[in-house]
Amino acid sequence: MHIIPVKDFNDLGRKASQFIIQLVREKPDAVLGLATGSTPKSTYKALIQDHRLNGTSYQHVRTVNLDEYVGLAKDNPNSYHYFMRDQLFNHIDIPDRNIYIPNGLASDLEEECRRYDRLITELGGVDLQILGIGRNGHIGFNEPGTSFEVMTHVVDLTLDTRKANARFFNTLEEVPKQAITMGIKNILQSRSILLLASGPSKADAMARLLNESKITNAFPASSLHQHRNVTVIADEDALSMVYLGRRA
Ligand code: GLP
Repeated sequence: MHIIPVKDFNDLGRKASQFIIQLVREKPDAVLGLATGSTPKSTYKALIQDHRLNGTSYQHVRTVNLDEYVGLAKDNPNSYHYFMRDQLFNHIDIPDRNIYIPNGLASDLEEECRRYDRLITELGGVDLQILGIGRNGHIGFNEPGTSFEVMTHVVDLTLDTRKANARFFNTLEEVPKQAITMGIKNILQSRSILLLASGPSKADAMARLLNESKITNAFPASSLHQHRNVTVIADEDALSMVYLGRRA
């Protein structure tokens, strides 16, 4: 695991965007695995800025998102479809046909999961997967206890995760109780992974990930120790409890 410490949230975005921009320049039809949440926002902002200033093109890029809530329509401002349009896709030149996000309104959710797995295979796999991390170490929506062997699946969200995400909704009750998420197996099949973390609320999770090398289902992000090409970009607050001198 390669760790890049940065100062703050904006530095995190600049640094992470450089990885994505470099990949897209080298491989214009790259498959990007994208994430939602607050953490990637500064990265998407930096990509938009670069697109405007330097003209980096996403005409041939394909994107697959990690997850989506079950039961929210695409135009619901809390859906991850809406988030991605608002934060990135509406501001770059990626064609709609190249954008893939699980459909949380599918009538057969199991079939939707299988379709998503097939789709990723048909695209040739993910070149670079962007990840945030939950306070409990979840990646995508793979909550503690999830097997590392599962592919895309439907999950029951933990109360902790629903509370953490309730800030975007009017009430906790409105936060969906289920989501579709790529599994840890999908994530580990990506050719490279960029894990982003910012702020003091991630300090515990980063300490657990980086001070220890123990791989356990109880802490889903620990699965990343099994992958050969993971870069962690994290800011000072997120790294405040990490011993950078003797990290895992
Ligand atoms: C959600 C998303 C995850 C994300 C996590 C952290 O649960 N499904 O993909 O990494 O939240 O979110 P944030 O970046 O807002 O802290």
